Amino acid sequence: METYGLFINGKWQKTNEVMDVIDKANQEVYAKVSKAEEKDVKSAVDAAEEAFRKELTTPYERYEILMKVSNLLKENKEKLAQNMTHEAGKPIKQARSEVDRAVQTTILSAEEAKRLAGEGVPVEAAPGSENRMAFTIQVPVGVVAAISPFNFPLNLVLHKVAPAIAAGNTVVLKPASTTPTTALLLAELFVEAGLPDGVLNVVTGKGSEVGEWLTNDERIQLFTFTGSVEVGLNLKQNTGMKKLVLELGNNSPVIVDHETDVKEAAQVIAAKSYAYAGQVCISVQRVYVDEKIRNEFETELLKAIEGLNVGDPFDDQTDVGPMITIKEAERAEQWVNEAKEKGAKILVGGSRKDNFFEPTVVTNVTQEMKVVCEEVFAPILSLISYNDLDKCLKEVNQSEYGLQGGIFTNNINKAMKAARRMEVGGIMINDASQYRVDLMPYGGVKNSGWGKEGPKYSIKEMTEERLVVMNLK
Ligand code: SIN
Repeated sequence: METYGLFINGKWQKTNEVMDVIDKANQEVYAKVSKAEEKDVKSAVDAAEEAFRKELTTPYERYEILMKVSNLLKENKEKLAQNMTHEAGKPIKQARSEVDRAVQTTILSAEEAKRLAGEGVPVEAAPGSENRMAFTIQVPVGVVAAISPFNFPLNLVLHKVAPAIAAGNTVVLKPASTTPTTALLLAELFVEAGLPDGVLNVVTGKGSEVGEWLTNDERIQLFTFTGSVEVGLNLKQNTGMKKLVLELGNNSPVIVDHETDVKEAAQVIAAKSYAYAGQVCISVQRVYVDEKIRNEFETELLKAIEGLNVGDPFDDQTDVGPMITIKEAERAEQWVNEAKEKGAKILVGGSRKDNFFEPTVVTNVTQEMKVVCEEVFAPILSLISYNDLDKCLKEVNQSEYGLQGGIFTNNINKAMKAARRMEVGGIMINDASQYRVDLMPYGGVKNSGWGKEGPKYSIKEMTEERLVVMNLK
């Protein structure tokens, strides 16, 4: 069994205390990782700060290193995918597609390293400034702390690390405690690609402790975090004037209008609600279906769910595997039971065995039930009928979240109405909320977060525009 060290200043460092990484398919210990202490986190920031100060790479060198990493990701695709299936319980076909996406994220970031540019500022047009010329340059912010979630142990790490490096920053990465080893394998690829020491440092350990030590370190200039609203809020309240990029909770709504292909909508919604057991921030959670097609949609949805393969994440055919922990699956079960007690009806699913939770459809729900108003992050979908699109959109917006949503309709007017009114960072027309390619801007409104990801957009967040004014003689 592998025991991983911390990766600080280009070296692997073991600690006295280690933490178990559980195989989510069978609950056995799969690997061990080092548990960072405060002094280790400080060393990681020391290394990152020193590397930043030394300006170790040019933009073109960063482009080349990231392109090499993208090739190494391709070469190591199966190893990384298998590793994710062990530590995250992600069905192997979804894990393989995550590696493909990670390749894209890395290439996109590499390309952005060549586009760091400012713009001309016509100061000479101001009275008394006739002899001046000005422009801006795009400069890196410095040391970036990246705190990544369990659900995309490779691609969401790269969405933070690759743009940060492309922009010329240095990074201290804290991967999720439940899925840390993929990030450590990734660090090995960065070494192989020739990244100078100290540019990327990876510390594993207890989330709350490492988070607090990072938060208290004045040398960090920007925090990029994906995870819960609670932790995001805590960062916001305790990081003073530092920059923040926060990708937080969500309870994605999707509207199904009667002017649509009902069967196709049901199939897409089933696939995009239950993939990776619903543990994706843009998984479909609330489905608002036009009363006129309610029965037909329900029948097609249940048929589509029956067609999903549930079980062993290592099976190539599996669509829905385990949840991340037994505790999380118990929480999901509790929320469904609580909804049932308040009058909800379970159309399918609702049962749990260890960390496996059945694809579940709940109906007769109310806005106050947790399965509706909170982020469920489990294979649970709530089915709600509507008969008036305007009222439906109001109900959709009665949510503290707003990451992505969707509407199925062939009617352009209804589609555009939803696009204008739905309070989200992104809306999918004729698709479910769970659509993401890695070049697009990704980020929410309200409690779903702050700032955007997607390499081009992350780099905007991770750089400063510095003004240069020349007084010409
Ligand atoms: C997320 O869960 O926020 C990431 C979704 C994705 O990248 O597909």
